[in-house]
Amino acid sequence: MATHRQVLRILADGERHSGAELAQTLGVSRAAVWKAVRKAETSLGLQIETQRGRGYRLQAPLDLLDSARILEAIEPSQRRHLARIEIHDEIDSTNSHLMRAARGGAAAGTLCLAERQSAGRGRHGRSWVSPYGSNLYLSLLWRFELGPAQLGGLSLAAGTAVAAALSAEGVAEIGLKWPNDILWRGRKLAGLLLELAGEATGPSQVVIGVGVNTRLGAAGTAIDQPWADLDEILGAQGYDRNRLAGRVAARLLGAVARYAQDGLAPFLAEWEARDPYLGAPVELHLGERRIVGRHAGITEQGALRLATTAGVQTFLAGEVSLRPPTGGPR
Ligand code: BTN
Repeated sequence: MATHRQVLRILADGERHSGAELAQTLGVSRAAVWKAVRKAETSLGLQIETQRGRGYRLQAPLDLLDSARILEAIEPSQRRHLARIEIHDEIDSTNSHLMRAARGGAAAGTLCLAERQSAGRGRHGRSWVSPYGSNLYLSLLWRFELGPAQLGGLSLAAGTAVAAALSAEGVAEIGLKWPNDILWRGRKLAGLLLELAGEATGPSQVVIGVGVNTRLGAAGTAIDQPWADLDEILGAQGYDRNRLAGRVAARLLGAVARYAQDGLAPFLAEWEARDPYLGAPVELHLGERRIVGRHAGITEQGALRLATTAGVQTFLAGEVSLRPPTGGPR
């Protein structure tokens, strides 16, 4: 592991560590430690307090990802669906990585997490802000006998799984906004990006990518919509990043296995119970087009039913996005 990453693992406790101590632990010179600290700052965007003669300290402690602690939070009944856990210090995107791995034959149940994504992706071609050592950037690869057309409801099933994991971590008032957003008091707390490949009649492979905001800090200024993070909701001590990762993974594994058997039907009641827009006036945006109506529920294919003046129309997720009619949170 590069020296700056080793230094960071030691500084993660948020305590002050002297240059001499770091140099001795890592078997390098104090000058090499100094260089490594600067590199951690410039390449990972971290702020490290430096005091001449007193050493180095991270501005805030980091709870780095740890596969043993993640595994602990996955119940044995879900663990049997897990093939392996990969943790990357840095990667372009956990979704892109697993799509590539899937083409190379990676097993269903491969779980990939990263401390940082250099090219994290959101829906509609947006980027997903992914600073080092906080938040969750997690993707799960799954293989289905079904064809992509039968997987239209999978992102909703996955959304209920992430909502359940957040709720188990203590987050109340979670909303699910069709098709992929997880909200807290109307602000975005987490998002899902599903990517599918395969034959029209099956089999297919799916990568389910989940981003959960735990601590956005200064990186939040780059986000152009209202957002929330777990530091705000539960306090920095009120949640455990690794346990949350395990809970998200466990529930996703349960959800994909259930979806393969029974489709979206068993998830619909939970979705609708958490959907703040159900029954409300909404606007659907299809590129430049706007369609106004009342959100009249979700079909078993995961399509949105919109009651319009021309009758009820259904819309598949695709490029459609749902907004409150006044242009509130997206
Ligand atoms: C959205 O709401 O726009 C979807 C966001 C999905 C972000 C996650 S983070 C892990 C995975 N890797 C990515 O590049 N994107 C997803």
